[in-house]
Amino acid sequence: MEELPAGVELPAGRDQLAALFTQLAPEQAGAIATMMTRNNADSNRWAVDLLAVEPEDRVLEIGAGPGMGIELLAARTTAGHVAGIDVSAAMVEHARARDADLVRTGRAEILVAPAERIPFPDGAFTKALAVHVAQFWPTPEPALREIRRVLAEGGNVVLATRAYRETAGPPNAASFGWTRAQVDAISAAMRAVGFREVNTRTAENSAEGLIAVLGTR
Ligand SMILES: C[S@@+](CC[C@H](N)C(=O)[O-])C[C@H]1O[C@@H](n2cnc3c(N)ncnc32)[C@H](O)[C@@H]1O
Repeated sequence: MEELPAGVELPAGRDQLAALFTQLAPEQAGAIATMMTRNNADSNRWAVDLLAVEPEDRVLEIGAGPGMGIELLAARTTAGHVAGIDVSAAMVEHARARDADLVRTGRAEILVAPAERIPFPDGAFTKALAVHVAQFWPTPEPALREIRRVLAEGGNVVLATRAYRETAGPPNAASFGWTRAQVDAISAAMRAVGFREVNTRTAENSAEGLIAVLGTR
């Protein structure tokens, strides 16, 4: 399902991949941004639909990558605002370039920051989204606590990624997808930090299975 650009090899472990994101060189980030844009379009649209964004929402995207989600969110928050964060400075550059008009007009801002230390005040957002990101959090509680902190009362979060699929050959996006046990673990962690109405959604097509965990502050 996943074509990797020339010169990019995914490491075998989630932790190594998480570390790699923080150190992406500009040319690696460019190749990976192109790959994400191609492979993650459907899953980003699905996740944004699940978030049920309203025009006046203030939405935070965590792990915004090349900025595709920001663009989809901004199209819906016509009277609101979108903020994106990502640990990779090189990836943030790509997102800012892709979403230059949105950034220039103040409809969106994109910052280098980790999910574990979100640079916004308590209750700043009505909705939060992370697509293909939460599976790289070895201990998800610090990020989940931060997401809950920056959500207003009644605000919703969608964490979405691929379902795990065993595939032959080198690691690819599906090999980093969530197993049922990991979905149960992140759901439990969300409840433990205080999210309520935690529930999951799935979608399947011939290329991939998708899983999302939803919660409300
Ligand atoms: C697989 S990419 C997905 C990007 C985008 N959401 C998409 O669907 O195309 C994961 C992104 O999350 C970022 N990321 C990973 N862990 C993060 C963390 N703890 N805080 C913020 N960003 C993180 C990475 O730098 C990378 O850009």
